[in-house]
Amino acid sequence: MAETGAPVISHGLEGVYIAESKICKVDGSAGRLYYRGYSIDLLANNSTYEEVCYLILYGRLPKRRELDAFRKKLIEARPLPGMVIDVIDEFARRQDPMDTLRSAVSALSAYDNDMNDSSEAANFDRSVNLVSKLAGIVATIGRCRNGGGYVEPDGTLTHAENLLYMLNGSRPSQKDAKLLDLMLILHAEHSSNASTFSTLVAGSTLADLYSAVTSGIAALKGPLHGGADEAALRMMRAIGSPDNTERYIEDALKGKRKIMGFGHRVYKTYDPRAMIIKQDLIALQENESQEVKALTAIALRAEKMMIDRLGKTHGIWPNIDFFAGPIYVSMGMPIEMFTPVFAASRIVGWCAHMMEYWQNNRIFRPLEYYSGPVDLEYVPLDRRK
Ligand code: CMC
Repeated sequence: MAETGAPVISHGLEGVYIAESKICKVDGSAGRLYYRGYSIDLLANNSTYEEVCYLILYGRLPKRRELDAFRKKLIEARPLPGMVIDVIDEFARRQDPMDTLRSAVSALSAYDNDMNDSSEAANFDRSVNLVSKLAGIVATIGRCRNGGGYVEPDGTLTHAENLLYMLNGSRPSQKDAKLLDLMLILHAEHSSNASTFSTLVAGSTLADLYSAVTSGIAALKGPLHGGADEAALRMMRAIGSPDNTERYIEDALKGKRKIMGFGHRVYKTYDPRAMIIKQDLIALQENESQEVKALTAIALRAEKMMIDRLGKTHGIWPNIDFFAGPIYVSMGMPIEMFTPVFAASRIVGWCAHMMEYWQNNRIFRPLEYYSGPVDLEYVPLDRRK
């Protein structure tokens, strides 16, 4: 309690631990990230999204035979029910893709034949189904927005390749598939961020996995969280030319506007995921379009200026969303699909956390310090001044 009698309020739950977890460690001062004990650099360099999903869900790296069986399950689960395609087709032209994604995941529960089975085994199966289907749902949203139809999944393709195939209707280049796989690995999991926490809050009431995940999608949409990748690219496009970068950032900071893709509640140094994306972005310049080259130049100048101005002094460094935009542009991904692709990756983290939390479930019920009046007189409507 503070001296006034008011409790100490942790605004935005800063510094509050909500659970014990063995899934992910974010070391914000050293700028390190681990999934189940493996550093993100190791996974980014050596793994695949499918293998990372197995690791996050089952807690260890799979043997060859286990990975093959897991891949097969993902592939078998790819086709979308007709009604879910109809929902997407109806909604995608009218609303933001993240809103359609929420509705499509809700619709998916209508095709779960055993909604009353809340056993761990049933929820593992649901998680694999959701990981598989979210990629197809996201791709179908992208297509239906532009009047394209559903593309049947291709079982010979990897998860990342198939997402691009269902989105574009043609097989992706190796370069694009590899980049998307990397982005999926980097976004797969990040401890108790806002969307994972939302998932846990909804699930802690013992609502089902679809309801919990739908809450996660809702929370991911905002520009302070998953939506920052789109906002960062919009800013780079508004800057327009590399030589405008410093003036734009200067004006924004003077106007107390946030620079999207910078800052983090936990990282007080460079986000290791942003460092990996930055290096990949620099490495792919040679054959890129003028647009990607200009965006990269803008991004690098903005990064330098922000680090000089706010990095060491205020702990505001680039986060994963800053360099993501130019990478997505290089693979022809429409801007409004960035956050849905983030969701298609983070689904595995949401599911793993939900199942871990259910092992020792307790409903979330924090407090608010009420500072308004009490015992007011009720004045009848016609006597109110
Ligand atoms: N540009 C300029 N100033 C900033 C920024 C930024 N990007 N981020 C934080 N600050 C300043 C902020 O204005 C505040 O200053 P002051 O104390 O003078 O009022 C101070 O730093 C603390 O900011 P905060 O918003 O209270 O910090 P937080 O821990 O509550 O929020 C954050 C973290 C990520 C929401 C915030 O840094 C932000 O809004 N960044 C831009 C959006 C963004 O890039 N989000 C993606 C986060 S990483 C991926 C993900 O989770 O999806």
